[in-house]
Amino acid sequence: MPKRHLVTSALPYSNNRLHVGHVAGAYLPADIYVRYLRARGDEVLFICGSDDNGVAIEISALQTAQTPQEVCTFYNQRQKADFAGLGMAFDIYGGTHQPQYVKLHNRMSQEFFRRIHDKGHFVKRRTRQLYDGHHQRFLPDRYVRGTCPLCRDHETYGDQCEKTGAVIDALALIKPRSTLPPYAAPEVRETAHWYLRLNEFERPLREWLESKQGSWRPSVLNFALGQIRQGLPERAMTRDISWGIPVPLDDPDAAGKVLYVWFDAPIGYVSFTAALCVQRGGDEQDYRQWWCDPATPITHFIGEDNTVFHALIWPAMLMAEGQHQLPSAVVANQFVNFRVGGELRKISKSETPQDSPVWIEEYLKHFDPDALRYYLTAIAPETARTAFDTDDFVARNNNELVAALGNFVNRVLTFKSLEGRVPSRSAQTDFDRQHVARGAEAIEKVGRHIEAHRYKAALDEVMAFARLCNEHVGIREPWKTRKDNPPDSFAALATCIHGIHHLAVLVHPFMPGVAQRLRAMLGLPDEPPRWQAPAPLAEGHPLGPPAILIPKLEPGALTAGA
Ligand code: 2FM
Repeated sequence: MPKRHLVTSALPYSNNRLHVGHVAGAYLPADIYVRYLRARGDEVLFICGSDDNGVAIEISALQTAQTPQEVCTFYNQRQKADFAGLGMAFDIYGGTHQPQYVKLHNRMSQEFFRRIHDKGHFVKRRTRQLYDGHHQRFLPDRYVRGTCPLCRDHETYGDQCEKTGAVIDALALIKPRSTLPPYAAPEVRETAHWYLRLNEFERPLREWLESKQGSWRPSVLNFALGQIRQGLPERAMTRDISWGIPVPLDDPDAAGKVLYVWFDAPIGYVSFTAALCVQRGGDEQDYRQWWCDPATPITHFIGEDNTVFHALIWPAMLMAEGQHQLPSAVVANQFVNFRVGGELRKISKSETPQDSPVWIEEYLKHFDPDALRYYLTAIAPETARTAFDTDDFVARNNNELVAALGNFVNRVLTFKSLEGRVPSRSAQTDFDRQHVARGAEAIEKVGRHIEAHRYKAALDEVMAFARLCNEHVGIREPWKTRKDNPPDSFAALATCIHGIHHLAVLVHPFMPGVAQRLRAMLGLPDEPPRWQAPAPLAEGHPLGPPAILIPKLEPGALTAGA
């Protein structure tokens, strides 16, 4: 029986275009992991979609004079196309408020809420909240900005400190202002909300997190355990806004209120799984095979700012609800900054030109998706923030991908005496055989790195083997023995071709397009490889036509329009 895995990537808010920072954080590493697991023969569901509810979407709609539905459907489609262009192998790309998913998602979220309610894990509290008298509305989350009450030196929204990632209480913000023009200083009014008693889960959360020591990234564990040490305050799971899922309680205080977007968003992972089961001809309840079976690990890929929700609040919700299993791993990446011409910049709607190639849609108009996948893995922000540097991108594309991989493949496969066929390897030397063994070792090592979520190290190992292939051909010099000792020249070339076959396996999770082109040049069927050292191709096996593997880029190619 193949092992099953459920893999999720954070649901992006559907109010913005995707940029390189998003991709490096929650999507590309997940896609590499999924492609590897599938190549290994495991059965994987890879779940993603847009996060359509809540304040962020409502504010974008207000700012652009559209309805929230128009905003979230527009960006859902654009983000979906961007992900497809980058080769993300999702099994489903849903959306928590998209017409095909909203009914099921609302029902599952409301049932989840009711089960937690019925088990007594919520407490209803009358509280005071910031209120905008001009707009006559409460100001939850991003509707208010002020100085963070915890770090005290940073402007932030009312939901989460943008510097430390800690969840904050908007009422405690220092010098709060509404984010709606004319940006009035809010008043305080009374309202009622349902709070999840997170403190009840401190102990089980701590024990669960401690059991992950040594396997999860320390940044996630240290952050989450640190928050528990400080004590987990109750968190309101309902909001006074109109765009979202109605609070499913027969209580006059629930009227007009919706679920907190961070309550329903992770349930999106579950409801999209159920939707996928139905799309595949099964029953909605089949989703339980993935969410309720401890033999099926669940891995969440996220950006660093989502850590508090995936490592504490979502697991506490799951513990409170009690019918679904906890994630096996939460893989968080740090942020990626943007450096152009040596200057560090923030990627944002207002500050980054619309035609900058840091926007995925723009990048894909001009450049190869795999070059971006390569670069973002090479600079993966696994343990610290990194910068997407336009000059470094071009240099690495040309000096690493083109020089070490593309040129080697081209040099071997355009060798005249091959005449489009794999030659005899009967005169292989020990050195050739050792080289092939190194390819098999690389496949082993890269697999181990990917399993441990060390994507950068895994890619380094792939490139180390590509450089070894260059060294091997440089030492064997098949062009020198071509006339005097053809069997030796052919054996060297057959070994090189076998090396290319190993590379086609190795690069597949990182650069599926490059892997596909390699397979085509090797005359292999257009299907994903198996994660195993490939057997040598038989003598006489017809090769495909050689083609350019990776285009070389002109210096400054990505700076134009940046
Ligand atoms: O930070 C974000 O973009 C959130 N929309 C991520 C949600 S992840 C999940 F829980 F759905």
